[in-house]
Amino acid sequence: MPDTQLDDLQKAHIQHLQDAYADILQQQGYDAVLISSGAAPVRYADDQYHHHHGYGHFLHWTGLTGIEHSWLLVDREGHVRLWLHTPVDFWHATAEIPTEAWTQLIKVEGQAGTGAPEIAYPERLAVIGDPAQINAVKGQANPPALLAALDHLRICKSDYEVECIERANARAARGHGAAREAFLNGASEFGINLAYQQATAQREVDSPYHSIIGLNDHAGILHYQHYETASPARARSLLIDAGCRYRGYCSDITRSTAAPGENRFQALINGVESLQQRLCDAVAPGVDYVELHYRTHLGIAALLRAADLVKELSEEDMVERQITRAFFPHGLGHFLGVQVHDVAGKPRPSPEKAPALRLTHRLEPGMVVTIEPGLYFIPSLLQPILDGADSQYLNKPLIDELKGCGGIRIEDNVLVTDTGSRNLTRPYLPE
Ligand code: GLY
Ligand code: MN
Ligand code: MN
Repeated sequence: MPDTQLDDLQKAHIQHLQDAYADILQQQGYDAVLISSGAAPVRYADDQYHHHHGYGHFLHWTGLTGIEHSWLLVDREGHVRLWLHTPVDFWHATAEIPTEAWTQLIKVEGQAGTGAPEIAYPERLAVIGDPAQINAVKGQANPPALLAALDHLRICKSDYEVECIERANARAARGHGAAREAFLNGASEFGINLAYQQATAQREVDSPYHSIIGLNDHAGILHYQHYETASPARARSLLIDAGCRYRGYCSDITRSTAAPGENRFQALINGVESLQQRLCDAVAPGVDYVELHYRTHLGIAALLRAADLVKELSEEDMVERQITRAFFPHGLGHFLGVQVHDVAGKPRPSPEKAPALRLTHRLEPGMVVTIEPGLYFIPSLLQPILDGADSQYLNKPLIDELKGCGGIRIEDNVLVTDTGSRNLTRPYLPE
């Protein structure tokens, strides 16, 4: 899609927000809402700042990540004004006043101060954002009912948002290709991260979340947070979970790769891959995501049986006895948008047996979800079973052989369409 078309979609997105905000403000009895961009806090007892990404509702309008001390005012007639923080500052680069097509709909001006703009506000004003930024502003701070309505507005994505998420996928896919190649060439976790950043042309701090890059047993640590600078003596497996942003919108992609010769682990990857593809294909309007999560457990059970990792039990029994949960302890996925775990995912609480599930909706067109089944060898989860009454069903020698490969996760980003779904990842990263 040419960028001019994207600009038109962006204007349609903003117009949709203008109408929706006008309705919500009307319903909730406000004349206007003032949205803070937020600002990075300083590190405790230090003069260095954390990295800023931006408050979700501010990004929903502007996509401007990294912008601090800026304010957006939306009134119930749909007028929108943005004050960008443009201080005189010779230590740092300061924001330029944008001139893109969307500024035809949002009036933008600069302001030197960090506080809320000094204008005459309408009487019934809501102010939303990080309490540390908004506490000096007169108005109703973070009213829960308004926040819930604005979160709800983010559930179904506009065509503009879908295109941005797709472009974030295209960008991350380049990184995944480079990461895989670096792994097969013997790079360390640190080296793989450099290859990823080089290929995506994105600094890690600007990506939606800290890239998870685990070799061998580190692939079994769900949110592994370090990078070994040395390559392991024998590299057996790679798990990389890494995304990108495009105009504020996130991708969230995971791939698993076995080293040549790791045939059993490769067979398991193939099994998770085909399960993941079936689950992606099952995404459609009306599908209950909690049901899809349970279906994933049955799929994992089938893989455990086929691989001879769990013996003698039916697939249903494996799920019932929570054996599959030890191998697949996280949820099937979540909403994706300007936040990697986007808001409003849980109209009902997660089920007791799936406390980590971040999404409990019935799917509707316009939702963008991740589909990310996994199969891991996590000692702290497997040991209690190996020590208990169900140990007879587990193939301990095989678990011991494979636990050095850590685990597998395969994750794509999928749009729910009117008739089914569209995978936003696979066109750029087929495997
Ligand atoms: N990257 C974190 C997740 O997949 O949810
Ligand atoms: Mn995810
Ligand atoms: Mn992920």
